[in-house]
Amino acid sequence: MGNVFHAESFSHSLNLSGHEQEAFRRQAEECRNALFGNKVFVRGVVEIANFCRENCGYCAMRRDNRGLNRYRLSVDDIYEELMAGLPECLTDLNLQAGEDPIAVREIAVPLLHRLKGSRLGLSVCLGTLRHEDYATLREAGADYYVLKVETGNAAHYRDVAAPGTLEERLAAIRHLAASGWKVSSGFILGLPGQTNEILKETIGLLEALPLVGCSVSPFIPGEDTRFPKHPAASLETTLNAVAGLRLLSPRRIIPAVSAMNLAGEGGYARALRAGANLATVNLTPESARPDYQIYRRDRAIMTGKRILQEIEKAGCEPSSVGLCDWLCARERGGSPV
Ligand code: 5AD
Repeated sequence: MGNVFHAESFSHSLNLSGHEQEAFRRQAEECRNALFGNKVFVRGVVEIANFCRENCGYCAMRRDNRGLNRYRLSVDDIYEELMAGLPECLTDLNLQAGEDPIAVREIAVPLLHRLKGSRLGLSVCLGTLRHEDYATLREAGADYYVLKVETGNAAHYRDVAAPGTLEERLAAIRHLAASGWKVSSGFILGLPGQTNEILKETIGLLEALPLVGCSVSPFIPGEDTRFPKHPAASLETTLNAVAGLRLLSPRRIIPAVSAMNLAGEGGYARALRAGANLATVNLTPESARPDYQIYRRDRAIMTGKRILQEIEKAGCEPSSVGLCDWLCARERGGSPV
């Protein structure tokens, strides 16, 4: 299929409705199917700690939020819980935390070392770190780094107090990709202050970055953030954005995110229908979950069973080949799916 869809048309496509919207999403679904089959990668996530040195205006884990119990899980506890039984469909694991160098050093690195020989592909989402920390994480066995830009406009990035500066974030993404990481980024749709121009800039930037994956999260107004009254992004717009990302970069990994279920009924399966190809099972111990608060206290927790139901509802199947394995094989020239 020729790629006739451009970053320029992206914001226009967000407002599609009715038949046009249906056709647009179907095109994205077919595009996903042409490259990945109807296969969805299933990755587990463990939110290993919720300390954060950043103060992002939109995020409830920001350091100024005194209402959270801050935690760091123990490596032994996480490891034992993982070994006690993982959903069979799960091929990859993502370790996620606020920006917390202690959690990197004391939890992520030793845990990755322990998991290195297992069947799991290993991803991390740990924020902007020193170059030597990225190297240590990679030596410990991780291949895939998630580092979101959130917005591609430097002034907007500063206004919402996203981590560091946009320039630093971009430098980190480029450094990671150049040093062998598979990198995924993403943005928040409907972030306060986002104009059409800024959205266009963001999409253009994400297109040009050396990424294997890209996400769109609908903005959710969090009670303990700077924007509790700002309207949430609509589910329909978000799903159009998923389809747009797929058509812009057919080969990228595009996740369905749990916030899509918060944004509206059936959001998760519908994101898979609109071209997403990664689903996430939450494996954070139940006692810690309420404190891993990104937007609201009532998060949509996705269990293994629930994920399988959503994948089936979307007419898809879990991929038996892991995400990291698949990407490495594609790089070597043989696509196994
Ligand atoms: N709405 C939507 N997504 C948010 N994130 C943080 N705060 C919000 C919010 N209010 C997302 C960002 C971040 C991820 C962990 O959660 O994309 O990278």
